[in-house]
Amino acid sequence: MKKGNIILIGFMGSGKTTFGRWLEKHHGMRLVDTDEYIVKKEQRTINVIFATEGEEYFRGLETEALRELADRNEKNMVISAGGGLPLRDINGIILHELGTVVYLRAKTETLEKRLAHDKTRPLLAGSNLHDRIEELMRQRSGIYEQRADLIIDTDDLTFEKMYERIKEYENSCN
Ligand code: S3P
Repeated sequence: MKKGNIILIGFMGSGKTTFGRWLEKHHGMRLVDTDEYIVKKEQRTINVIFATEGEEYFRGLETEALRELADRNEKNMVISAGGGLPLRDINGIILHELGTVVYLRAKTETLEKRLAHDKTRPLLAGSNLHDRIEELMRQRSGIYEQRADLIIDTDDLTFEKMYERIKEYENSCN
């Protein structure tokens, strides 16, 4: 059964955490960012975890974090999920137990602008940013769409409008 939370999924730079902070401030939700959760628990950065343990290990930590969040039985959380978190099937199942899964979709140009100076995301390091985004989006966009209860094209929308879309969707389910 769903637990009444909002889970934001989407590519790096799609605005999950920024929108999550806004929901926390304006609608009294409690923001949990899975990356921050993992960093706090592991006491090391995402870059260090990737460099020393590899991506698969990190993916395992994401599943563990989701399980812990689901076990809390909390409501009114907004969960900002790391960009690769929805890729694992098991994570897809847990996401849906937790609440309404919202895919924040953004154009490559929008993502590129936001990620241009980023040094915190190991999967973007050392390659042409535009090509890398397109490559990963080719692998991921279908999965994001498939996991989502609701898809929001965020490029030209205010947070207020995005929130309205989510509420409309939730009301239509009741
Ligand atoms: C990743 C996205 C990052 C972080 C890690 C891997 C990905 O989270 O989990 O660098 O695979 O897309 P954000 O989407 O919050 O940047």
